[in-house]
Amino acid sequence: MDQYAVFGNPIKQSKSPFIHTLFATQTSQQLVYRAIEPSNEDFKITLRKFFAGEGKGCNVTMPYKEEAFQFAQQLTDRATLAGAVNTLKLTDDNLIIGDNTDGAGLVLDLKNNHIDLADARILLLGAGGAARGVCGPLLAESPKEIVIANRTFSKAETLVSIFKDLGNVGACELDNLSGEFDLIINSTAASLNGEVPAISPLLIRPETAIYDMMYSAQLTPFNAWAKQLGARVTIDGLGMLVGQAAESFAMWRGIKPGAKQVLNELRHNLS
Ligand code: ATR
Repeated sequence: MDQYAVFGNPIKQSKSPFIHTLFATQTSQQLVYRAIEPSNEDFKITLRKFFAGEGKGCNVTMPYKEEAFQFAQQLTDRATLAGAVNTLKLTDDNLIIGDNTDGAGLVLDLKNNHIDLADARILLLGAGGAARGVCGPLLAESPKEIVIANRTFSKAETLVSIFKDLGNVGACELDNLSGEFDLIINSTAASLNGEVPAISPLLIRPETAIYDMMYSAQLTPFNAWAKQLGARVTIDGLGMLVGQAAESFAMWRGIKPGAKQVLNELRHNLS
């Protein structure tokens, strides 16, 4: 039977086997999806063995997305722009293609939550790998602007230099931020420490939609902060996780699974 997997370290916490097994049932696809936890030294060898066997495709997560980018024999445009790969696929010609479905997953979830992106003023907090992965797909939705704000300003400038030809994108220092935004996306790792990026509370207006790429059973720290300041809506990243998985599944199997049912089950299991 066709084998799929997620590679990462640590991987025990991964929800990908659950998500893809449900997708397979939903779309009547015969496949097995499991979690693999190679050490740093073994990542590429383990991948090679996987594809030399019955492996047809895999997801790659922390800390191996950049190595997967190097490993791929061919890259999609969005993976090239992201500088990282979260999806590998073995083609019928034995070529390993690297893709990045994170940004598409975010856009899908924003749309499922009825957030308008065309002409929107978007503030993107953070300029690490997570931010880079979503910039291209967000710009493809023709927002009015994307302002990237980061604690280390130079990293925001680097992202602007990568994406400036794709749309109206600028950089700003976190503590210098002002203006009106329709959507604020938090891609920083601040939440992992229970912190909120140090931005002005005046940025949160009654019209503002908030998206935190992190998810948890309770409101994430950023969403709790924004909600208490009166944000219109706060969304966490669980839907993005399901969205990127749906995009990977479609790339492998040529059939797009429905994200909503799986998201509901995952949300139920979180609490
Ligand atoms: P990822 O791949 O998840 O994006 P990363 O590349 O390590 O991880 O990037 C983490 C991002 O979170 C960076 O933008 C980082 O800001 P710096 O570039 O200044 O380090 C941001 N970040 C982490 N902790 C933060 C905090 N407490 N407040 C604001 N930004 C934070």
